[in-house]
Amino acid sequence: MKTIRIINGPNLNLLGRREPTVYGNASFGEYLDTLRTRYPQCLIHYSQSNIEGELINMIHEAGFGNTYAGIILNAGAYTHTSIALYDAINAVETPVVEVHISNVHSREPFRHTSMISAACTGVILGFGTDSYRLAVEAILHADATETDI
Ligand code: DQA
Repeated sequence: MKTIRIINGPNLNLLGRREPTVYGNASFGEYLDTLRTRYPQCLIHYSQSNIEGELINMIHEAGFGNTYAGIILNAGAYTHTSIALYDAINAVETPVVEVHISNVHSREPFRHTSMISAACTGVILGFGTDSYRLAVEAILHADATETDI
C-alpha cells in the first residue's frame, strides 16, 4: 500500500472560510475525508503549518526513506517567495508534486512566479481542491508503464 503525504502551507488551515469564491466552501478536513474514501488503496497523511521553517522540517522528515511514495505540497504564498523551500525540495529524495487550488496564472502578477516549481516533479494547479486528487493520481501512477495507462 502506498503512503502519500500532503503538506499545506500558510492560510490553508482557513479553507472553507477564506475567500470562498477563490478556494471553495469546504474545509480541508472535509475534503480529506472524501479523498481518503476515494482512495482506500493508499494511506494519506496530512499536515499543515503557517510557518516556513516548520514546512521545511516536514519536507525533511517526509523526504527520506521509503515511508512516502510522494509528497503533495501546497506551499501557499511561500510558493512565490521561498528559496529555502526550493532548497528543501531539492535536498530530499521523495518526489514532490506542487499543487495549487486556484489558477495562479490568472491572478495577480506576483502569483505568476513559483520559486519551487523547478525543484518539483510536476505542478498541478487551477482545478480547485481536485488539484490534490490529480496529484494523488500522478503519484499512484508514477511507476506505471505506458501499457498500464
Ligand atoms: C494557493 C495560491 C497562492 O498564491 C496563495 O498564496 C495561497 C493558495 C492556491 O492553492 O491556489 O495561499 O497556493
